[in-house]
Amino acid sequence: MKKQKIRIDAFLDDYMRTLAVPDRLKESMHYSLSAGGKRLRPVLVLAAHDAVGGTAPAVVAAGAAIEMIHTYSLIHDDLPSMDNDDFRRGKPTNHKVFGDAIAILAGDALLTQAFDILSDPEIMKGVPELTRIRVVSEIARAAGSSGMVGGQTLDILSEGKDIDGEALQNIHTRKTGALISASVVTGALLGEATTKEVEDLRNFGASAGLAFQVADDILDITQSAQQLGKSTSDVARGKKTYPSIHGLERARGMATTMVNEAIESVASFDTRAEPLREIARYIVARTC
Ligand code: IPE
Ligand code: IPE
Ligand code: MG
Ligand code: MG
Ligand code: MG
Repeated sequence: MKKQKIRIDAFLDDYMRTLAVPDRLKESMHYSLSAGGKRLRPVLVLAAHDAVGGTAPAVVAAGAAIEMIHTYSLIHDDLPSMDNDDFRRGKPTNHKVFGDAIAILAGDALLTQAFDILSDPEIMKGVPELTRIRVVSEIARAAGSSGMVGGQTLDILSEGKDIDGEALQNIHTRKTGALISASVVTGALLGEATTKEVEDLRNFGASAGLAFQVADDILDITQSAQQLGKSTSDVARGKKTYPSIHGLERARGMATTMVNEAIESVASFDTRAEPLREIARYIVARTC
């Protein structure tokens, strides 16, 4: 993950340097982008691409674009009108430093520029046009109203309400699982995977993505804000989470089952899928 993270960060640095934007907006975008996330989604793009034997140089740019969408979602997620958190990626949240208006606009810009990258003929050189369109469509759907934005909406509307395990699974699948699954599918598409490979990897991503949010819920109550580098506010905000509905031990077991299901989805892949399997194991083993 460390090695791949360097490739993603290098692309993001270069891209941000060339971007023509008002200084304050650029500072705000750069502040959150460079604050040091785990880069899980772009690393998954690269790992899925490797798993199918892909050779597209554009895979790094596509991963970086997804990381920009993820970073936008974090900036907006932390806003006072959303989760109202003060601490993210080891630093004060974007709106705490730049104010709500610039934080909202930095999020808007990151989301929009991601699609500028994905549709740029120079950056995506060598990728067949139909593949480019499929990638754009895949990511747009995952990030949009039936995916992440829809999930975030249900999350906010469910605060303090009594919802059941099925409703919570739906929220987590959308708000977090969708973009993680799209990351894996993006790597597969750019690697010119077969239809069967794409579907296996989509299932891998859906299970691993859901497990990732369950682990996030668990860490929110078991780790300190300092350890996580972000505020822990689920209990205070009355969020329904896997531990709050199922209990901590059951939630842990469910996350492990989901990871095993993810690994099972790629059972027919050879050793080139080993990094992908390792990342799936890391999702539940991580402590931050
Ligand atoms: C946090 O995502 C938000 C969720 C979807 C759970 P990450 O845990 O991937 O955050 P960073 O990118 O490492 O900061
Ligand atoms: C956020 O879930 C998922 C997103 C799409 C940003 P959380 O609200 O649990 O994420 P954290 O814990 O603030 O990182
Ligand atoms: Mg949230
Ligand atoms: Mg949050
Ligand atoms: Mg959380």
